[in-house]
Amino acid sequence: MPGYESEARPPKGLRNGITLSRPMIQRPRGTRDFGPAEMAGRRAIEAAMRAACQRFGFGEVVTPTFEHSELFTARSGEAIVDEMYVFRDKGDREMALRPEITASIIRYFVNEMSKVPRPLKLYYVGNCFRYENPQSGRYREFFQLGAELIGTKTPETDAEVIALAVNCVRDAGLENFVVRVGHIGILKSLVRSEIEDEKTAAEALRMIDKEDFDALGDLFDARAISRRLFDRIVALADTKGGAELLDKLEKSEATEHLKEVFSVLKLYGIDECQIDLGIVRGLDYYTGMVFEIDAPKLGAEKQVLGGGSYTLSELFGGEPVFSTGFAIGIDRVALALKAESAEAGYAPIDAYVIPAKEDMRKYAFGIVAKLRQAGIRADVDLMRRTMSKNLKYASSAGARFAIIVGREEMAKRKVVIRDMKTGEQTQVPADFLGDELKKLLA
Ligand code: HAM
Repeated sequence: MPGYESEARPPKGLRNGITLSRPMIQRPRGTRDFGPAEMAGRRAIEAAMRAACQRFGFGEVVTPTFEHSELFTARSGEAIVDEMYVFRDKGDREMALRPEITASIIRYFVNEMSKVPRPLKLYYVGNCFRYENPQSGRYREFFQLGAELIGTKTPETDAEVIALAVNCVRDAGLENFVVRVGHIGILKSLVRSEIEDEKTAAEALRMIDKEDFDALGDLFDARAISRRLFDRIVALADTKGGAELLDKLEKSEATEHLKEVFSVLKLYGIDECQIDLGIVRGLDYYTGMVFEIDAPKLGAEKQVLGGGSYTLSELFGGEPVFSTGFAIGIDRVALALKAESAEAGYAPIDAYVIPAKEDMRKYAFGIVAKLRQAGIRADVDLMRRTMSKNLKYASSAGARFAIIVGREEMAKRKVVIRDMKTGEQTQVPADFLGDELKKLLA
């Protein structure tokens, strides 16, 4: 039941024999509800990636969900600005729901952290909003985990950020992914070598980003730009493969920088990176190294991560400061894991306590309370069901064990543990139930 289906499909008429008086209110298009099983999977992904950020010395920060819209219109690029959720607040200020979090982090840095010793290593997790055409893997509300290394622009800075990104994706459990690293400076200077008009250059870069070379050819013809430049751009955008490709290119600051990035990555034991000089990135603020990670199993929306080096601080009233960062689409990582079927099975409860008869009910509450105190995820019958209905419920709720409290057991201060997978039953003293279950769960 993907969240991109429909905005308002009022179900009419009868439902379960009851006449509905009002149409059901649907969630907004491009948004999703997440149930307990899905949330458990998403939280596990998030926890693994947070742990990677902390291992690399990054500290967590949280910034507002909405900002003054100019924060994003300043340099995020036309594509993002067109997709922004913008509104006027009651004080007639133009606000925007954040389409990404990098700009907010740099604003926070300029506002409050510019005196902190550099480099600064910050990470964040949050929801973002883009008014996009929803489809699988592309939503209007989506979730990112990102990291920004602020105040340095050395090749080792870029390598550190790429290494963290790879660790995050790996630790989340993804096995099939491709890391592509490029340098926006190489493409930009080639495009600008013959195209002076900024707008045309930006349009050309957008087409290269989408690998729409037919449209690029048409643009060049319409503006009488040389075919020689077109051929050189296509050849550069097609430079994809091992780091040795850098040796075949005309030597420049950018190629030497990338060579050093790759050599540090090697020292970090990160060998899965490829060169891809066709990476442009959808956001306009990048100045140097750019990189993306794809999960090929995802099809059209396969890019799970994007990042690179940039400067933004001078636009927000600070001094120019170089930074490198990335953001991972948590939704896409979850989809990719599903495609790889690496998702762990979800069991919301370990033990479901069933009183065999009415007069064992109070005893059952004492048992469930003790289990919870012992850190075991435990639940108890709240609907006064019969034994067979309770066992059926325990099974459908995914309980690993049922704890049956019968009259005879209660008299002896004992309970029965029923393995819900095998049906095997064992009697244990009630006082040792917690320890016994912990052993079985381990
Ligand atoms: P971005 O490439 O726009 O970069 O987004 C990063 C990731 O967010 C994408 O790779 C994708 O996985 C996910 N994503 C983007 N849009 C959607 C959507 N509509 N639905 C689902 N997932 C989506 C940035 O946001 C930059 N701030 C990254 C960065 C940080 N650069 C430097 N520092």
